[in-house]
Amino acid sequence: MKTAIIGYGKMGREIEQILRERGHEVALIIDIDNRADLDAAHLEGIDVALEFTTPATAYENLHSCIEHKVPVVSGTTGWLDRFEELKNYCIEQQGALFYASNYSLGVNLLFRLNRRLAELVERSGANYRVEIEEVHHTQKKDAPSGTAITLAEGIIESLSSKKQWVNFAPIFDVSAYDEKPRHELTDEDLIIRSVREGATPGIHEVRYESEDDELILRHTIKNRRTLALGAVIAAEFLCGKQGIYSMDDLLQ
Ligand SMILES: NC(=O)c1ccc[n+]([C@@H]2O[C@H](COP(=O)([O-])OP(=O)(O)OC[C@H]3O[C@@H](n4cnc5c(N)ncnc54)[C@H](O)[C@@H]3O)[C@@H](O)[C@H]2O)c1
Repeated sequence: MKTAIIGYGKMGREIEQILRERGHEVALIIDIDNRADLDAAHLEGIDVALEFTTPATAYENLHSCIEHKVPVVSGTTGWLDRFEELKNYCIEQQGALFYASNYSLGVNLLFRLNRRLAELVERSGANYRVEIEEVHHTQKKDAPSGTAITLAEGIIESLSSKKQWVNFAPIFDVSAYDEKPRHELTDEDLIIRSVREGATPGIHEVRYESEDDELILRHTIKNRRTLALGAVIAAEFLCGKQGIYSMDDLLQ
């Protein structure tokens, strides 16, 4: 495949290495200094683009790829309030978009276990308090993580006692993202605790606790390579296709 990398940060660099190892051509690399090059001329002949930038820039980048008929794989988190808008644009343009809040196979297995566990807890009628905790490196620009939001949505779908999630991000720079409106916590709120420390690539934990016991689903990413590999496999899957895809499509 002839590829473009949009966002040459931690993920972009890992992706480049894996693309080359798997015999793909990296024909274009876009970062903040040359972002104006994301145009028809530079995208000409690109089979697929991989976009890992920032919450503030993802939408425009993805829009440009779709506009110029380049299938695009995105992993940028923190911009999904505009996902529906982009999805509609992609359908209208007959473009191709692959999005996952997390490209790790293990995390996608966790998503399924999480939904199943919430269903089982609901059916059992057990009285558990449920919370999510996510831990990431201090440079992460959004909170909660996209993965934690997907976990929360999976729980809210099945657990009738929970209606919405609220984020606790005590040591986070709130200027970098839109904070959720604060309100008095009720039992209907599913708490997501965000912790930012060290260089941690990503830990997610779903914890059910009662007076008598504790049940924990936990996933720890050991390195970014697994995420980058998942994104490259998604790009190989998307190449030549049309439509909107997710990890569920890939895993099937
Ligand atoms: N879905 C996943 O599996 C997954 C995995 C890891 C990270 N992420 C997400 O991917 C994004 C990037 O993560 P990272 O760790 O590589 O961050 P990073 O900060 O290391 O890299 C981001 C890069 O984007 C560049 N950039 C900023 N504005 C740009 C623009 N307009 N055009 C092109 N490039 C631009 C920055 O200069 C930087 O080099 C984050 O949102 C992160 O949460 C997702």
